[in-house]
Amino acid sequence: MERKKSLRIYEASSKVIPGGVNSPVRAFFDMGIPPLVVAKGKGDTIWDEDGNAFIDYCGSWGPLILGHAHPSVVKAAKAQISKGSSFGITTKIEKEIAAFIVKLIPSIEKIRFVSTGTEATMSALRLAKGFTGKNKIIKFIGNYHGHHDSLLVQAGSGVIRLNSQASSKGISAEMIKDTLLLPFNDVKAVKECFEVHKDIAAVIVEPIAGNMGVVAGSKEFLETLKRETEKQGALLIFDEVITGFRVGLKGAQDLYGITPDITCFGKIIGGGFPAAAFGAKKEIMDLLSPLGEVYQAGTLSGNPVAMQAGLATLKEIAKEGFYEKLQQKADKLFLPIEKALKETKRGCLQRQGSMFTIFWGVEAITTKEECKKLDEEMFKKFFLHLLDKGIYIPPCQYETSFVSIAHTDENLEKTKEAILEFIKAR
Ligand SMILES: Cc1ncc(COP(=O)(O)O)c(C=O)c1O
Repeated sequence: MERKKSLRIYEASSKVIPGGVNSPVRAFFDMGIPPLVVAKGKGDTIWDEDGNAFIDYCGSWGPLILGHAHPSVVKAAKAQISKGSSFGITTKIEKEIAAFIVKLIPSIEKIRFVSTGTEATMSALRLAKGFTGKNKIIKFIGNYHGHHDSLLVQAGSGVIRLNSQASSKGISAEMIKDTLLLPFNDVKAVKECFEVHKDIAAVIVEPIAGNMGVVAGSKEFLETLKRETEKQGALLIFDEVITGFRVGLKGAQDLYGITPDITCFGKIIGGGFPAAAFGAKKEIMDLLSPLGEVYQAGTLSGNPVAMQAGLATLKEIAKEGFYEKLQQKADKLFLPIEKALKETKRGCLQRQGSMFTIFWGVEAITTKEECKKLDEEMFKKFFLHLLDKGIYIPPCQYETSFVSIAHTDENLEKTKEAILEFIKAR
């Protein structure tokens, strides 16, 4: 595959942008090859600067449930841009998308828009601390909620105590001193933690983790979080930045039948533009500035282009039969692969709706600890095999791939064949 032009651009980018990328995983460092440099996308396909086509299962890391450049989204965004792209003043579209979501999601009476998932979770945690008057937060190993200081932690030696370590330089012990880090899906650890610590403001969790590959929270685990937070007057924050509008129209909270106190959204809510949000009942949300004393703000928050694209996306996915159709597409790919992996015992496919990860060298993954058993060399070979066949998945074993409504039967078939070929050749 000829990639000369892409390579030249990447090399030039690397001189003026650290690592040549504006977000680290895009750099392909673990894959041992230079990254893609994308020129355009349409439907289920992206093209690099050399004109090579790739069937795309990254979908911009989740937002593109409708595929690239969906006509409704393009139309809505274009119409807004021609009327002005940002005012920093209230616009009607903000009310429209907010009302749409409030009507859809029973746990949300009010919602505030921000520009990134990081801002949504950061603001949700500040709000939870302001609401409860407490400071400690529980986070789970292998969950990712963005790159704000208090959440960039890794496990210290004893999980229940306040001894997490920063997972990045530039974060002082002071910044993470209130963050408790627990194993995902570990009911006992949660109960013990609530027994030891009586000053917990919030638990933040990806109900279905997408940042260690797809790993669903068990019902018992999520119910325990609900029960323990309720008992102690702490708030339960569902980070649905990936799962929101992805695993179903009403997200993971609807699938599990568990009502979080605060929900964070991102990705799909902006239809491919920078938008995210957090929402809750009025009594919590009204604590935000300008009504209350929890400060939160943003120059481009509720940006009208992003709001138009987001609402256009939400209207498409709310149409009758959308998720059934998406599931049918996903199953075309998933079912034969699951069967082949079971027969050959090469690995497993974990999925929820249209999100999926193939884990190599294991039968199942339920915690980040178990990821140590993964065959990362096999993943690398798999990634390169697919790329060579014109198929793009996220360049990391611990990430989630996504099927969109734009994936054609022909391309799903091509992908299935390429994956089966890889499984059978090992
Ligand atoms: C579950 C989850 N929460 C929060 C974030 C942070 O979102 P952003 O990258 O928009 O800041 C991500 C990003 O991938 C995510 O997957």
